[in-house]
Amino acid sequence: MAVESSTKKTNNFLGGKGAGRGGSLRLQSLTKIFETHGGGGQVAAVDGVSLDIPPNQMVTLLGPSGCGKTTTLRIIAGFEQASSGKVWLEDKDITNQPANRREMAMVFQSYALFPHMSVFENIAYGLKVQKTNREDLKARVAQAMKLTELTQYANRQPNQLSGGQQQRVALARAIVIEPKVLLFDEPLSNLDAKLREQMRVELRRIQQELGVTGVYVTHDQAEAMTISDLVVVMNKGRIEQAAAPREIYQRPASRFVAAFIGKASFLPGKVREVQENMVVVEVLGQSWRVFNLGGQLQQDQDADLVIRPEGVILGHPGEQPLEGRITLLSYLGPVIEYEITLNGGAALAVTVSVLGQEWLPGLGEAVSVGLVETALAALPG
Ligand SMILES: Nc1ncnc2c1ncn2[C@@H]1O[C@H](COP(=O)(O)OP(=O)(O)OP(=O)(O)O)[C@@H](O)[C@H]1O
Ligand SMILES: [Mg+2]
Repeated sequence: MAVESSTKKTNNFLGGKGAGRGGSLRLQSLTKIFETHGGGGQVAAVDGVSLDIPPNQMVTLLGPSGCGKTTTLRIIAGFEQASSGKVWLEDKDITNQPANRREMAMVFQSYALFPHMSVFENIAYGLKVQKTNREDLKARVAQAMKLTELTQYANRQPNQLSGGQQQRVALARAIVIEPKVLLFDEPLSNLDAKLREQMRVELRRIQQELGVTGVYVTHDQAEAMTISDLVVVMNKGRIEQAAAPREIYQRPASRFVAAFIGKASFLPGKVREVQENMVVVEVLGQSWRVFNLGGQLQQDQDADLVIRPEGVILGHPGEQPLEGRITLLSYLGPVIEYEITLNGGAALAVTVSVLGQEWLPGLGEAVSVGLVETALAALPG
């Protein structure tokens, strides 16, 4: 995808801090129906997706395989035509605009570099297509290489670079055309875990320095949480929740979101009282006053208590209100992850920080369990 050269002005985009050139994006009731081969069936890959993305923000589409992330991204890019709905860039309806006129650039998982060209030539490619003058081209490629720390590799070919370096070339090639929106489809999936963590910090830094709007597709929730201003959790073609990372974790709007983002245990119970945005839920004979997620719960309704692993207090038998036994134990260095099976059969995931803990129960040991009310919430059961 390239930017039409007529829109190109000389500016300080690549050089300047937070140049703030990103465009706002609006997805309006996007739906994409694919015809499946053979049976004559249909798949709604994207099903009524509406979303406002403010300029210069990094937004992540997060969800399990097949939930419609890539299809949504490709509709934004103009590689795929929506069955219905609209895409707006700033105040312009771009739904029917061809990809090469959308002022966007995409970074792929498979870096898609030209193998016979040097790093410099790969990055310069889009500018050459735009017929950018030689001097401007050299300056902008140099700036893009500096930003992605590739300057010393300018004359190498892609097969002489590591995976991480190749991915940086792909990124430099995207930003050099100074797009209003950068699109990423699982760009770090081919890298090992350590490098992936480094690169996501790098990506975030570069996106913020440029002040460009980013739409980032991943199924890795840790990646989504660290890189985004806004996380959009998708399931079966629909948006389950769109919110800041912290809100997504602390105030999941559905059971799907609660289970997909971080770990959560669910204990069934009943609503005994509704108080503004709080509810009192009775679970295992105890009452808990917790946040009413999405304000959905009514008096006497079945409800699930949503429990994060760090919201559980472990005690010796008899010390805390609920009794159980350790049924799984994973030692992870700074923390231990336990599964506790409560009397009655419900299972709880618990994370205990090792530091400063004078007692760490072993596998099979009897324990009692308390719940930190402020770390709990309730959803319809
Ligand atoms: N060209 C196509 N023809 C038919 N069905 C398609 C086509 N492209 C995607 N699909 C279907 O649409 C759904 C969404 O696919 P999509 O690639 O958007 O998912 P995704 O969230 O990106 O998944 P992943 O994490 O595996 O990349 C899937 O059920 C997929 O099989
Ligand atoms: Mg995909």
